[in-house]
Amino acid sequence: MKKVLVIHGANLNVLGRREVGVYGQQTLEEVDGLIAEAAKSLGLEVKFFQSNHEGEIVEKVHSAPGQFDAILINPAAHTHYSIAIRDALGAAGLPAVEVHLSNIHAREEFRARSVTAAVCRGQICGFGPLSYTLGLQALKAILEESG
Ligand code: DQA
Repeated sequence: MKKVLVIHGANLNVLGRREVGVYGQQTLEEVDGLIAEAAKSLGLEVKFFQSNHEGEIVEKVHSAPGQFDAILINPAAHTHYSIAIRDALGAAGLPAVEVHLSNIHAREEFRARSVTAAVCRGQICGFGPLSYTLGLQALKAILEESG
C-alpha cells in the first residue's frame, strides 16, 4: 500500500475554534478522520503530522523519502513565506499536493502568493476539508501513473 504523509502547518491544531467563519467548525482531529476515511477507500495509508514550527516541518519533509511515497501538505501561513519548506519539498523529490481549506485567492492579497506551490504537483484550495480529500485523490492518480 502506498504511504502518504499528511502535513498540517501552523495554527491548524486550533481548527474548530479559530476563525470558524473562514475555516469551519471541524477540529483537526475531525478533519484527519475524514482524510483517514478517504485514504481507506482509495487504498492508501496515511500518517499525520502537525507543527507550528517551520524547522520541524522541514525536518519531517527531510525524513519522508524512503518512508513515504507522497506528501499532502497544508503549509498554512508558511505557504506565503517559507522558502525553507519549499526547498525541503524540492529536495525530498516526492510528489506533493498543496491544499488549503479557504480560497487563498479570494482573501488578503498576501495569501494569494504561495512560495511552496511551485514545488508541488498542484494546489487545491477553497473547499474546506474536501480540499484534503481531493488532494488525496490527486495523489492516488499520480502514484498510479508512476506505478
Ligand atoms: C490556510 C490559509 C493560510 O493563508 C492561513 O495562514 C492558514 C490556513 C487554509 O487552509 O486555508 O493558516 O492554509
